[in-house]
Amino acid sequence: MISLSDLRKFKAEGRKFSCLTCYDASMAKAMEVAEIDTILVGDSLGMTIQGCDSTLPVNVSDMAYHTAAVRRGNSHAFILTDLPFMSYATLNDALSSSKTIMQAGAHMVKLEGGEWLAETVQVLTRNGIPVCVHLGLTPQSVHVFGGYKVQARTRAAADQLIADCKAVVDAGAAVLLLECVPAQVGKEISNLFPNTPVIGIGAGAETDGQVLVVQDMLGLNFSHVAKFVRNFMKEQAGETAILDAFKAYHAAVQDGSFPAVEHTFQIEL
Ligand code: KIV
Repeated sequence: MISLSDLRKFKAEGRKFSCLTCYDASMAKAMEVAEIDTILVGDSLGMTIQGCDSTLPVNVSDMAYHTAAVRRGNSHAFILTDLPFMSYATLNDALSSSKTIMQAGAHMVKLEGGEWLAETVQVLTRNGIPVCVHLGLTPQSVHVFGGYKVQARTRAAADQLIADCKAVVDAGAAVLLLECVPAQVGKEISNLFPNTPVIGIGAGAETDGQVLVVQDMLGLNFSHVAKFVRNFMKEQAGETAILDAFKAYHAAVQDGSFPAVEHTFQIEL
């Protein structure tokens, strides 16, 4: 099983690592077979699984439920799990939410924020809970940003982001995740912290790891598709591979060609 030490070693060796979001055991098993290095049980499940229009309605028990399923399905990847909206607003909340998530099977919790999280990061780390801090575009603050927009677009904003990264790394953050920042900023931050693996999403090619939401890379996102998404399903199997399977199943049930003899139990009674 991949550990935090492995991620640090990968960084030192310049070996990029993969990360995908995952919310269930069968997909987690597929990712184990594919040797995906790290899994993020993201609060994006609010959209991808629960059908909400943001991550805000997700709660700690949702995250624990999906973390436990993923952990049961995968014994290879390092598993990060999001602490959802308002579940780390106080130190006590952060400790209690992280306890639930770690006991469900996560190897690390992920929090969204910056310098103001330093004390929380320190307290969690001292209590044996490894922390990833998510910076840049932080979806739990979508209503503060006024939409999903690229962050750190000016030198001053990039310097502020770097100061936030320094504060949380000094406090003990073991991994950083950067979302929707210019590639130059992703590179600068990754180079600044030799011991801290940096995962990017829409943060350019120079971060130590990359993450995508699994539905996005399988072409199963039927709403807005961000610029940083690549549809790997389309490249491997054709744009509509999964939809084609659904349509073929529907047609086969309708025309009676499924189930065929080989799919049925033929027992003399
Ligand atoms: O919840 C999530 O899936 C995430 C990724 C977008 C990085 O935080």
